[in-house]
Order: sequence, then structure tokens, then C-alpha cells
Amino acid sequence: MLADLAPKAPDPLLKIIKMFREDPRGDKIDLGVGVYKDATGNTPVMRAVKDAETLLLATQKTKTYVGQQGDVDFLRLVGQLVFGDMARDMASIQAVGGTGALRLGCDLLRESGAKRIVLPAPCWPNHPSIVRAARLEPIDAPFFNIAEQRIDLDALFAAFDTVARGDAVILQACCHNPLGADFSLDQWTALADALNARGVIPFLDLAYQGFGDGIDEDVAGLRAMVERVPEAVIAVSEAKSFGIYRERVGALYVKTSEKARPAVMSNLAAIARANYSMPPDHGAAIVREVLSDEALRQSWRDELDEIRTHIKRTRRRLAAERVNSIPMHLIADQKGMFSTLPLTDAQVTALREVHGIYMTDAARINVAGLREADIPRFVEALRAVA
Ligand SMILES: Cc1ncc(COP(=O)(O)O)c(C=O)c1O
Repeated sequence: MLADLAPKAPDPLLKIIKMFREDPRGDKIDLGVGVYKDATGNTPVMRAVKDAETLLLATQKTKTYVGQQGDVDFLRLVGQLVFGDMARDMASIQAVGGTGALRLGCDLLRESGAKRIVLPAPCWPNHPSIVRAARLEPIDAPFFNIAEQRIDLDALFAAFDTVARGDAVILQACCHNPLGADFSLDQWTALADALNARGVIPFLDLAYQGFGDGIDEDVAGLRAMVERVPEAVIAVSEAKSFGIYRERVGALYVKTSEKARPAVMSNLAAIARANYSMPPDHGAAIVREVLSDEALRQSWRDELDEIRTHIKRTRRRLAAERVNSIPMHLIADQKGMFSTLPLTDAQVTALREVHGIYMTDAARINVAGLREADIPRFVEALRAVA
């Protein structure tokens, strides 16, 4: 009975958001929410997105369904952006955001016989929930030393030994959430070799293309991996890269043999059909318009460059500061919006309660949410608690 339902614990991040909102202090600092903010603290609509929306409004002739696979031009253009020429050999389907793509991919893997998904930890907190919702078993695989801010690849290889052929591992393609620590090209190659040797499928999660070193640079590791393995599943989110979070724009790409592709495609279509039937149109149409028009595409690239420059500048500013027990200098080497600081629960609580500085309970900070003017106060507070 519905009356017997046990309540679920709320997402811990929502708790932080609520506490921040209710904090009356005028100088409070929000490093919790995972959205990009410009120098004024705003999350802007990108210029190219606004222009594409104006164009769509003027030219759209119908609101009928987009079709089972979604917007095929969107899929082709995003595929080209992510994989280059390799996109030609992939099955693809539009998804409801990167989250929807991850769920589609997990359901597909389960249909193909997978039982377990290795999750290099710490991972994006939604990964285990998605894996479990798809009736797969998440395998927690610690792979990062937070005190030293260092990747331990051998720990990951050991985790691959605990799963079977046809199981998978979710690897973040760039700008790791919550660590900011990405694999080097050599590490990607070593990972591909290790996965091939064990028959474990890479499930790549790309949610921040363009936020690290550049649009092509950020997918170099992903491409190296996809090139080397016979099968791969790739979830793409365009929420951040186009600043269209609420439009829920994503896609799933699958590399398999040509022979297996029709079955993969029909399984994906069936999973989507039983879930939400057809994907939403507007966000994907924006991305399609931006990527297919030379001027809009350039405008988007320019603004993405500005965003990346802003994040890198904030990282360099933080890295120049000295704080007792925190290797601040490594923040400059890390990529994208997030870093996770080696802070205890008590230190995170003190930062929030005494200094009005909000981060996740696991001490993830959204570097891209830190206003330049707030950096000195943030560093002073870190020195006071660390
Ligand atoms: C690592 C990672 N993957 C996937 C997503 C999903 O993005 P969305 O569902 O908003 O497109 C996010 C969003 O925060 C993320 O950080």
C-alpha cells in the first residue's frame, strides 16, 4: 500500500542548498551547487543559445513528436564534436540529459547480461543511484588519495578483477566531478589495455566538454579509449557545455560491431519507449542550431573559452595561496568546476557554521561558483579551520 511507503533520505546537496538559502548572513559563500557562475555570481544564458532560440521561435513549423531516436541531426553533430570521424560507427539515441543517458546505458548493459558496474570512488553521487535503479550492482572502487590528491590506477585495476566479462566501469571523461583530477593520456591507454584484458566494458560519462583544456583536448582521453576497445558506451550531457541545464539535453552513443548495431539500437528504442516514449525537443534543437551554423558555433566556442578562462583563473588564484594542511598548488592542475579538499567533517561544519561557507559534506567545492571577490575571505576561513 502507498500508505506503507517508508520515506527516502533527501539528497544531501538539497539539504546544503536549503541551509544556504536560509542563512541570513550577507557575506555567505555558496560552493555547493554544481553550476557555473560568472564574475557577478550569475549563471548566464549563452549568447549563441539565445540567438538559436530566437531563430527556432521564428522558424519552427510543428510540435509533433521528434521520433524514437530523437533529433538525428543533433545526434550527428554532437557525435562529431565528441568522437570526430569515429561517430560514424556508433549507435546513438537522444536522452533526457546526461542522467537519462546514464540510465539508458545501464538498462542496455543489464539487457546485455551485465550484473555489476564498477564505480571509481569518490564518484558523482548519482552514479550509484542510477546503477541500482537499473537493477545492477554498484562496485565501490576507491581510486583517489584525497590527502595527496593523487590517482591510484592499480586500485582500479584490482577492482576490475572482481567483476566478470560483460560487466562495466563508469569512467568520467574529463573534469571529474567531484575531484577535478583527470586521467592522463597514458593512463587512458593503460585503462583500455586493462579493460580489454578482462572483457570489462568502459561506460564513459562526458558532462563537461570544453570546461577543462578545450573542446578537443577534453575528449582526447575518451577518443583514445574508444579507439582501442571493441565495445564502449558513452553518455553525453550538454547541460554545462551549452549552459542549458534545465533543458535536459543528452545523448547515448554505443560502439559495437556493425553486426550488433541494429540489436543495440532496437533495445535502446524499446527501453526509451517504455520509459518516456520520445525525448524533449527544445534543448537538442538549440544545440543542433548552434553547431550547424558557422557564426553561432563560433560565438558558442568563444563564450565557452571565456568560461574556461574564468575557471582556470580562479584555480590559479587559489593555487597561489598557502593553507597549512591542504596542497592548494594542485588545484591549478585540476580541471573543470570541482575539487575535493582534504577536510574533516568538523572542518566542513566549521566553515559553514562559523564562516558561512557552504560546500558538500564530502568537501567538494565548486571552483566555478567562487566569485573573485570572495577568494580572500574563503582562503582566510580555510586557514582558520585547517
Ligand atoms: C559527472 C556527471 N555526469 C552526468 C551529469 C548529468 O548531467 P545532466 O543530467 O544535468 O545532463 C552530471 C551533472 O551534474 C555530472 O556531474
